[in-house]
Amino acid sequence: MAPVSIQNVSKTFHPSKGVEIHALRNVSFDARPGELLVIVGPSGSGKSTLLRLIAGLERPTSGAISIDSRDMSDVDPKDRDVAMVFQNHALYPHMTAYDNLAFPLKLRKVPHLEIDRAVRATAELLGISSHLDRLPADLSGGERQRVAVGRAIIRQPKVFLLDEPLSNLDAPLRTQLRGELLTLHRRLGTTMIYVTHDQVEAMTLGHRIAVLHQGELQQIGEPLDLYHHPVNTFVAGFIGTPAINLIPGRIVPDGARWLFVSESADQPALRLFLPGVPDTALRHQVETPLLMGLRPEHIEVHPLSDGCQQHFDFEAVVDRIETLGHETHLQLMAQSLCLTARVAPDMQITRGATVHVALRMDRAHFFEPVSGKALR
Ligand SMILES: Nc1ncnc2c1ncn2[C@@H]1O[C@H](COP(=O)(O)OP(=O)(O)OP(=O)(O)O)[C@@H](O)[C@H]1O
Ligand SMILES: [Mg+2]
Repeated sequence: MAPVSIQNVSKTFHPSKGVEIHALRNVSFDARPGELLVIVGPSGSGKSTLLRLIAGLERPTSGAISIDSRDMSDVDPKDRDVAMVFQNHALYPHMTAYDNLAFPLKLRKVPHLEIDRAVRATAELLGISSHLDRLPADLSGGERQRVAVGRAIIRQPKVFLLDEPLSNLDAPLRTQLRGELLTLHRRLGTTMIYVTHDQVEAMTLGHRIAVLHQGELQQIGEPLDLYHHPVNTFVAGFIGTPAINLIPGRIVPDGARWLFVSESADQPALRLFLPGVPDTALRHQVETPLLMGLRPEHIEVHPLSDGCQQHFDFEAVVDRIETLGHETHLQLMAQSLCLTARVAPDMQITRGATVHVALRMDRAHFFEPVSGKALR
């Protein structure tokens, strides 16, 4: 099991004279031996570039990459002992699934009998044994994707690099293959770096997740660490669906207590009590503009019709209802603020209704409004 170390790696492309594209800036992190590390970020954030640098298909503009504690600066791609599944999972169209799987071993001049054994074992593992004589054009998208994964795992490299291997599949197949990849990783125990732009995939697959944005590493940590302690508004907004609500306002003292007062054009603004004394970083920001982040699951909604006189913070009007079956998302208008709440699917509610809203202020995050950095 090999660690992968990325140290201060930057990559600048010069597609034409005078044009510079900073695909990666000063990225540093380690993938631990045997870890399934997920790299997540929006389109263009530098994910594929990072994988291509690890595979040796591109050279970093600056910084260093090591695999299994060996510096890769002067090591050819073929000698790095990594296997990559590319974003477009290109299979050789004129070769059968069998020959596509066998290809990496043929290149390495592995004896014929050994190749045959490896191809059949890999096909068995991926459930494509009965499709080995078919051309890629005669396979479904999911089957093609399995052949592409099989071609990477057939020779048991030190590190697997997977670039959005499930992106072309429909939702049920994605979920199924995601589960199969997890099982596969557990069986092989090989270090795996998995790229996706889908945060659900990142949360469900990753031992740890590295979040990239505009070529910069934002945060690396375990899935729940990113959910509970995002370092900035980008990570807070990227991890979790529906996205976190960001409410501009200020913290002000109110007698012995502390209040968050929302900044809104109309009066009265929302006045929300904090559960305790704000910690040091937050106290430094008293009476200065900041952003409060509150996830949709931390907004409680009580229809007026349910009769219970529960504590509530303010009234809001239901502007939009999205029923997903297992849960419902509400868009609420409270004065000029628009908030998204996640509620139970059996809540009886209609568009335009007035509801009581209580915020779980103990779950609030606070951010510096210009840099977006978390205040903690
Ligand atoms: N060979 C290249 N020449 C010039 N610019 C490039 C090259 N490869 C990538 N880029 C640019 O670098 C940035 C990062 O690209 P990259 O392919 O790594 O993004 P990505 O995160 O994989 O995106 P996606 O999710 O769309 O696959 C983009 O702005 C892209 O246009
Ligand atoms: Mg990509």
